[in-house]
Amino acid sequence: MSEQPPGLEPGTRVVVTGAARGIGRALASRLAAGGCRVVVADRDAEPLAEVAHRLDALAVPGDVAGEAGIASLVEAARDHLGGIDAWFGNAGIDRGRGLEMSEQDWADTHELNVMAHVRAARLLVPEWLERGRGRFVVTASAAGLLTMLDAPAYSVSKHAAVAFAEWLSATYRHRGIVVQAICPQGVQTDMLTRSGELQQLLSRDEALAPDVVAETVWEALGSERFLILPHPEVAGYYAARASNTDTWLGGMNRLQRKIEEARA
Ligand SMILES: NC(=O)c1ccc[n+]([C@@H]2O[C@H](COP(=O)([O-])OP(=O)(O)OC[C@H]3O[C@@H](n4cnc5c(N)ncnc54)[C@H](O)[C@@H]3O)[C@@H](O)[C@H]2O)c1
Repeated sequence: MSEQPPGLEPGTRVVVTGAARGIGRALASRLAAGGCRVVVADRDAEPLAEVAHRLDALAVPGDVAGEAGIASLVEAARDHLGGIDAWFGNAGIDRGRGLEMSEQDWADTHELNVMAHVRAARLLVPEWLERGRGRFVVTASAAGLLTMLDAPAYSVSKHAAVAFAEWLSATYRHRGIVVQAICPQGVQTDMLTRSGELQQLLSRDEALAPDVVAETVWEALGSERFLILPHPEVAGYYAARASNTDTWLGGMNRLQRKIEEARA
């Protein structure tokens, strides 16, 4: 286990959303093992209660996409912990495929993958500005730096999540607010299992265990660097996209054609 990251001394009061399973559960477990006081939230009450019991955390079941859900989570966490030092906005969905996906799937994806972060920041940042410190960690995705074939709403929403986190950091860093964006490729969770044959094929070789992602995040909390990349190769793809966008897009399109050929 690595050293305690600066700013996350034992007793640090944290909230993790989407913590009933997958990356959120692993993050909450790592934070609790590091001595943090943890509040976990998820719409799936039963597995959430099990996680909370195991971690001696408070479970706040409910939907964390809308304004009311975020507000009641923030209130419950403040009542229980006496304040919130760090927020891990991790709950996310991956719905729909291709141009056929419905208006409702686009809207639901935007609500949770983007607006939940905006709503949480709106409630948390004023308190953190008064205190001169606070930490906001968004679980985005490598799809937020690159793209995810077949998944337009997921890609767009994760780009927006990274953009919002960048905006927060650019606006408030000098006032003590640390913002970080976790951008993994495939992680072995229910989301990856549900994502269909294509995504499983694309991430077959490099899908990480959620605990490995959580350990990378724990280590990166100390450095306070903005991008947390559990798959280090993403940094190279991101640089290639920026420095030669057409070559990068051509490579993505070649991958798409290979997939179509394999499917035919
Ligand atoms: N698994 C991957 O390959 C991968 C890769 C990159 C990024 N991510 C991101 O990591 C985060 C966690 O993903 P995961 O793979 O652990 O997914 P998961 O589906 O295994 O777990 C997500 C959890 O979020 C909860 N949730 C979903 N919508 C909710 C809502 N409206 N309110 C409250 N809780 C809600 C679910 O009940 C579930 O417990 C997501 O933001 C996802 O986009 C995942």
